[in-house]
Amino acid sequence: MRRITVLGVGYVGLVTGACFADLGNQVICLDVIPEKIEKLKRGEMPIFEPGLEEVVQRNAAAGRLEFTTNYAEAIPNAEFIFVAVGTPSGVDGEADLKYIRSAVENIAAHLDTYTIIVNRSTVPVGTGDSTAQTLIERGKQQGIDFQVVSNPEFTREGSAIYDFLNPDRVVLGSVDKEAAEAVAELYRAFTEKIMITDLRTAEMIKYASNAFLAMKISFINEIASICEKLGADVKDVAAGMGHDQRIGAAFLNAGLGFGGSCFPKDVKALTYMAEVNGLHPQLLRAVMDINRDQRRRVVLHLRELVGNLRGKTIGMLGLAFKPNTDDIREAAAIDLAHMLANEGANLRAYDPVAMENAHRILDGVKFCADAYEVAAGADALILVTEWNEFKQLNMPRLYASMQRKIFLDGRNIYDPAEMRAHGFEYRGVGRPLNDASADNAPLAVEPSLANVK
Ligand code: UGA
Repeated sequence: MRRITVLGVGYVGLVTGACFADLGNQVICLDVIPEKIEKLKRGEMPIFEPGLEEVVQRNAAAGRLEFTTNYAEAIPNAEFIFVAVGTPSGVDGEADLKYIRSAVENIAAHLDTYTIIVNRSTVPVGTGDSTAQTLIERGKQQGIDFQVVSNPEFTREGSAIYDFLNPDRVVLGSVDKEAAEAVAELYRAFTEKIMITDLRTAEMIKYASNAFLAMKISFINEIASICEKLGADVKDVAAGMGHDQRIGAAFLNAGLGFGGSCFPKDVKALTYMAEVNGLHPQLLRAVMDINRDQRRRVVLHLRELVGNLRGKTIGMLGLAFKPNTDDIREAAAIDLAHMLANEGANLRAYDPVAMENAHRILDGVKFCADAYEVAAGADALILVTEWNEFKQLNMPRLYASMQRKIFLDGRNIYDPAEMRAHGFEYRGVGRPLNDASADNAPLAVEPSLANVK
């Protein structure tokens, strides 16, 4: 049993705290927002994460998991302090470290015994060193009062507890191998896949991993655009590529691109770090450009199919940046809503859990009770988030209630031939524009081949 403090009760902090408590440690979670802590004390979750409520309630009831807003309660006596506060994007894409700085100042003010500060927030390379520097400037001695370890997280929203307990790897970086080993012991309760590096390398592994996954998505989205022009089907292309173990099948789903609180922010932050050091991170820039274009392409498709969008009713199925979360940060739906509103369209939307969050930031969207209400009288529907409940929709019912029968499948979850058989004018992402286009493919290829001398 170890005494662990977690700073920040967002997805990362709360999952970290709840899981370590569940493993028998004594955990106290701190957040500076009183409403979040009050909710947690009542057993309510400030975020939607499947399975989390049960783990939190069980460990709170057992007295292993406590919540506070008071640093004086959370810092003294802690053996480990996990810093899991937000690092939002600043104006130039750089990571804004104001929450980290405030956490470090408060740690400095209350530290009273040797404590290992474990940075779990995604922070620019070098932040671990500057954390140590700040503590030294506040009169603390590195190695005697504190040590800093970087421990980036690789958990996905929606399956965070599973990912935490079944990691592909745990990365720990520190100048002090003993401190890293002490943190490794916490993880050895459930995994041996632990890698120890220096501090900056661990910080970089996080950015490089997220940027690589984002790159896979943008890569397949670029291939999807080419497939559309040439009459190939990107779903089969991805499957064909994914069988190659060197490529791997994961993260090759073409669609409306990536969103969420991590990929866009981290790719931008890595780009910024490269640029301020005189580099030209062209690949990282292309990853973001392609992602933005994926959203724009939907509007182009709609213009082509619907015509002028002014006064037309467009329905969005799904708002969350991916299924099983209520998180709408950087979600495709938000970009689409803004673009379509600019075109003068009337918007309707439904999401099983993200409507409350979307309501706060989207004006002029009619929020509906279900997919059928979205469809009634609509000129076009866009499948934005691939929630399971959208996979089993009663298509004849949707079809019958729509004004015009246009269906854009932004996540390629439907069978094109079936959708067309239902009567829809259906388009996916990177799929043949009609069932006969495979036959037209040679024609589409010929002109460009003719240019090759
Ligand atoms: C991501 C990483 O997957 C985690 O490893 C990492 O720990 C986390 O960021 C983080 O840095 O905290 P997350 O943002 O929860 O996790 O979501 P993902 O499941 O990775 O999906 C990100 C976005 O990519 C979603 O919008 C999803 O729709 C999109 N995506 C994903 C695709 O468009 N195609 C794919 O093939 C896969």
